Amino acid sequence: MRRKITVVGAGFVGSTLVQRLAERDYADVVMFDIVPNMPQGKALDIMQAGPVLGFDTQVTGTNDYADTVGSDIVVITSGFPRKPGMTRDDLVKKNQEIVSQVTEQVVKYSPDCIIICVTNPLDAMAQIALKVSGFPRERVLGMAGVLDTARFRTFIAQEVGASVRDVQAYVLGGHGDTMVPLARMCTVAGVPISQLISPERIEEIVQRTRDGGAEIVKLLGTGSAYYAPSASVLQMVDSIMLDKKMIMPCAVYLQGEYDIHDLFVGVPAQIGSKGLEKVIEIELNPSEREQLTKSADAVKELVHVMGI
Ligand code: APR
Repeated sequence: MRRKITVVGAGFVGSTLVQRLAERDYADVVMFDIVPNMPQGKALDIMQAGPVLGFDTQVTGTNDYADTVGSDIVVITSGFPRKPGMTRDDLVKKNQEIVSQVTEQVVKYSPDCIIICVTNPLDAMAQIALKVSGFPRERVLGMAGVLDTARFRTFIAQEVGASVRDVQAYVLGGHGDTMVPLARMCTVAGVPISQLISPERIEEIVQRTRDGGAEIVKLLGTGSAYYAPSASVLQMVDSIMLDKKMIMPCAVYLQGEYDIHDLFVGVPAQIGSKGLEKVIEIELNPSEREQLTKSADAVKELVHVMGI
């Protein structure tokens, strides 16, 4: 029998992820949404690409959580978009409600699954999923760092005219304005970027990375990024499904690592079939450490707004 992945939320991020997963051909996929018929329609459409592209993935669209039963991985992308006039705190509360409900339901049907949270504000939502699920921290992860790092790598590769594959980088911290792109550890084929790019340009690229999501929101006019976000989730799912043990920046529940306690913050993590297999502690300099602490404080504030 094939393994099973559920994606909750059949919006832009969710349905693009389902398309990417279907093309992987290593698990059947269930796509859940509260909107009637829509996930069913998208599922059919995605599956009908199978004969052309050569995959046999069964894709099921549903409005019934019973169809998600026995999932190995559940990705939560359901959420409310920020509307004009809504404060950040309003958005937190609205999405807190959605992520709580969703977590309760998926856990009922898939008590052994690994949850990957994508809904924003990411770190706070992962915290909710952990609390409501009652899962150990190994089985609740948040996707943000892979995306932020991908943006950073894209800009670096463009700057030096290199292949993105040769650019290694880390972006740590919460998924927001306070994220910490670790320029000091960024290399192009092993060469530190400080030898290739001026400090001023590096600072500009770091800032563009921090504003990466907003730049796209502004260009789109309505909605937010989904191609790179879905690809970033896919990398995490790959590492779990294929037990690749890749190290990538993920939002994980820290219990003392980096001197951060009981909070989801983005750090390098080893991801395998058990979910979080190891938090990688890299030595930070005082300025990086200070930035990471500041970023963790911003997450703490959101968690405080949610009252958990
Ligand atoms: N249960 C299931 N699905 C829900 C629920 C719920 N309680 N509430 C809303 N949804 C669904 C909506 O019907 C919609 O189809 O979630 C989907 C969200 O999709 P989009 O609005 O297209 O948002 P998207 O661009 O996919 O982003 C989803 O990921 O990157 C983050 O910030 C982004 O939080 C946002 C999330």
